Parts: sequence; C-alpha cells; structure tokens
Amino acid sequence: MNKPIGVFDSGVGGLTVLKELTELLPNENFVYFADSANAPYGDKSKTQIVKLSANIIDFLVSLDCKLIVVACNTATAAAVNIMRKKYKLPIIGLEPAVKPACLQTKTKHIGVLATKGTFRGNHFKNTSEKYKDYVEIHLQVAKGLVELAENGIFEGEKVDKLLSKYILPMKNANIDQLVLGCTHYPLFYEAIFAITGNNINIIESGKAVARRTKDVLMINQMINAVQKPQKLSFYASKETKAINNVVIKLFKIGKIKPNVEIIKLI
Ligand code: DGL
Repeated sequence: MNKPIGVFDSGVGGLTVLKELTELLPNENFVYFADSANAPYGDKSKTQIVKLSANIIDFLVSLDCKLIVVACNTATAAAVNIMRKKYKLPIIGLEPAVKPACLQTKTKHIGVLATKGTFRGNHFKNTSEKYKDYVEIHLQVAKGLVELAENGIFEGEKVDKLLSKYILPMKNANIDQLVLGCTHYPLFYEAIFAITGNNINIIESGKAVARRTKDVLMINQMINAVQKPQKLSFYASKETKAINNVVIKLFKIGKIKPNVEIIKLI
C-alpha cells in the first residue's frame, strides 16, 4: 500500500523515532508533524493533549496516511487509547522501555527520565508495578530538556548542568540502565553518555517502535512492496531553530534546506 505513514510529536523529538522507522522500512513514505507551537506537552492536561493529538491525526488523515505512529511518550500516555477508539486506522504508541531495562539490570536499580505526563500515564504505572518488587525504579522528571531541544541547544553548560542534576543521583544509587522515556532525550545522547559512562546502558524506544510498526503493517497487509526512493515530508505548527537542523543531522541530507512546511492547526 503506497500511502504514507503519519508520525507526530510535540516537536523535534519524534524525529529520533522517524529515523528508526525510515531505516527499518525503506519502502515506506512518511509524513512527520512537529507540534512546535504547543511544545512542550509534558505539563499539559490530559484534555489538552487529547485535543491536540486529535487535531494532528485529523491533519495526517487528510493527507491519506494509512497508519499513525505517536512518536511521543507524553501524547501516548494521555491520548492513545482515546485515539484508537476515535479513528479506524492503526495507531502505534510509545512508552518508556521500562520492561527491557528491568529484565537487563544486574544491580537491580534502573533510572527513568521522562515528563510528568508520561509518569502519570497508565502504561508507565502498569509496567512499573510488575517489576517493583524486584527492581528499584528511580524516576526523574527531566524538566527543561524539551525546551532546550526545541531551541536547538543539545550541548553546552546549560545541558550539562541539567543532565548532571537529573542523572548523578541515579548514578550514585547504582543504576546500570537508564531509560530515555521521552523522544527528545536521545538528541542529547553525547551529553548523557559523558555523564553515565560505559557502565550504564542507555535505552531508548525508537527501534522497538519501528519493529512494532513493521509487524502491524504486515498483519494489516499494508506494507508497501513497491521499491521507490523513500519520500519524507515534514510539517511543523511553528518554525523553530531546531527543526531544520535536526532533520539535516538525522537524515544526512547535506546542506539542502529540508522543506518543512508550517501549518497552523486551528
Ligand atoms: N517527545 C515528547 C515525549 O516523548 C516530549 C514531551 C513534551 O513535549 O514535553 O514525551
């Protein structure tokens, strides 16, 4: 099926998921929507996020998308169940990779960085509940990181200061797994690694979501068998410093300015 896959996030974070999707599914075309005008979603109410997600999915459906990937942990936590009832097309959500971290830990301590909205959600609560008798899960709302990413700041003093404040207490608590429970955080990978070092495994969800998307495409006989150059379209609700740079960095499209169309949704 030649129709595109719609992918969205509150901003540039979901591009880290899109990157994994494009690699695993080279025959598929993708439309990405960054809701930069409304980022961050982290502190917004469930009602607000449900409304924003529905507006975006309406837009992606108007572009004839065959499947939606909610490349945002916060939007998944607040809205994915409601969206699955509202729309007929398959909707893939994303949640912090707590399960693999709990299965892999040897020290029995894991750390999770995410937004307030993600920690509030049932997906996170249910998964953590299953492992809480065997593993100590150290939670940290990583306030401020999404704002830095949306401003195109991925390194430097401000980044290091925030990351140290969030990660060092977990490191001192002997975590050996650090879950990046927000799709913006892998954009800070180098700065995070500089703090964690080799003894802490950094886990993100992008690859797992890409595999799940492939499975759902196969089950629904939606996979695009036609070999053609992949088409990627980018939309944002506001022009930001970050979007062009992150697209260029992740998708290695050289110096050509990516065509990010700015669309205001209601
Ligand atoms: N990328 C979003 C997530 O995975 C960012 C949340 C936000 O906008 O605060 O949760």
